[in-house]
Amino acid sequence: MNQIPVHVAIIMDGNGRWAQQRGLPRFYGHKEGISAVRRVVKTSKQENIKYLTLYSFSTENWKRPKEEVEFLFSLMESQLREEMNSLHQENIRVRFAGRIQLLPEKLQTIISDTEKLTDANTGLNLTFAVNYGGRQEILDAIKRMLEKNRNCLINEDTIRKFFYVPELPDVDLLIRTAGEQRLSNFLIWQSVYAEFYFTPVLWPDFSEHDFKQALEEFARRKRRFGGI
Ligand code: IPE
Ligand code: IPE
Ligand code: MG
Repeated sequence: MNQIPVHVAIIMDGNGRWAQQRGLPRFYGHKEGISAVRRVVKTSKQENIKYLTLYSFSTENWKRPKEEVEFLFSLMESQLREEMNSLHQENIRVRFAGRIQLLPEKLQTIISDTEKLTDANTGLNLTFAVNYGGRQEILDAIKRMLEKNRNCLINEDTIRKFFYVPELPDVDLLIRTAGEQRLSNFLIWQSVYAEFYFTPVLWPDFSEHDFKQALEEFARRKRRFGGI
C-alpha cells in the first residue's frame, strides 16, 4: 500500500463558494485558499512526492470581473514576495507554467526572481499553473517548435520539450476539490493516464487528512495503462 504518486496535480476549486457560504465576498475565499496551499506543499514534502502542480489561474479565468482577476494577481505577487525565501530554504524548486508574458509586469518580475532563486534546488518540484490552458500549451509548443526549425521531427518527446515546464512528467494523481468533475483545460496532455480523485471539500477547507485520503485511494488503484 505504499505506492506514492510521482506527480500530483491539483485543481484548487471552491474558494468563491467557501466565502459565499459565510456571507463574505469571494476574495476572502481566495485569501483563505493560501493556507491550503501551504498544507499541501508541506504534506507533499513529508510524503516524498517529487512534483506538485497547482492550478492557480486558467486562461478562461479572464472572464471573471476585473476586480477579482486583479485581486488574484496581487495576492499571488504578495504571497510570492513573502514566501520565496522560505521556499528556497526548504530546497523547493518553483516553476510557473502558462502564458506568463501576459501577466502584470510586477508579477512577472517576482515569478522570474523566484524561478532563478530556486533553480538549483533538488527537493520538491512545485509548479504553479498561472494563465495556463492545456490546449494553449500544446499550440504554443508546436508554434515555438516550428519557429525554431521548420523541418523538425514531430513526435511526443520533441513536442514535450517545448512545453512550459518541459521536465514535468505525466500526472499520476489529479485531485479536484469542490465537487466539480471536469478538467477545465488543465494539463490535458500530461493527464492522459492520470488517476482522478474528486472531493466535495472546498479548497480552503482541504486538510492534510483530506490529502492523505486521496493518496491512500491512489495507492489502492490498479493502473493498467492499456495492458491487462
Ligand atoms: C478556485 O476557486 C480559484 C480560482 C479559479 C482562481 P473559484 O474561485 O473557482 O471558486 P468557486 O468555484 O467559484 O467556488
Ligand atoms: C479551474 O477552476 C481553474 C482553477 C482552479 C485555477 P474554475 O472554477 O475556473 O473552473 P470551471 O469554470 O468551474 O470549469
Ligand atoms: Mg470554480
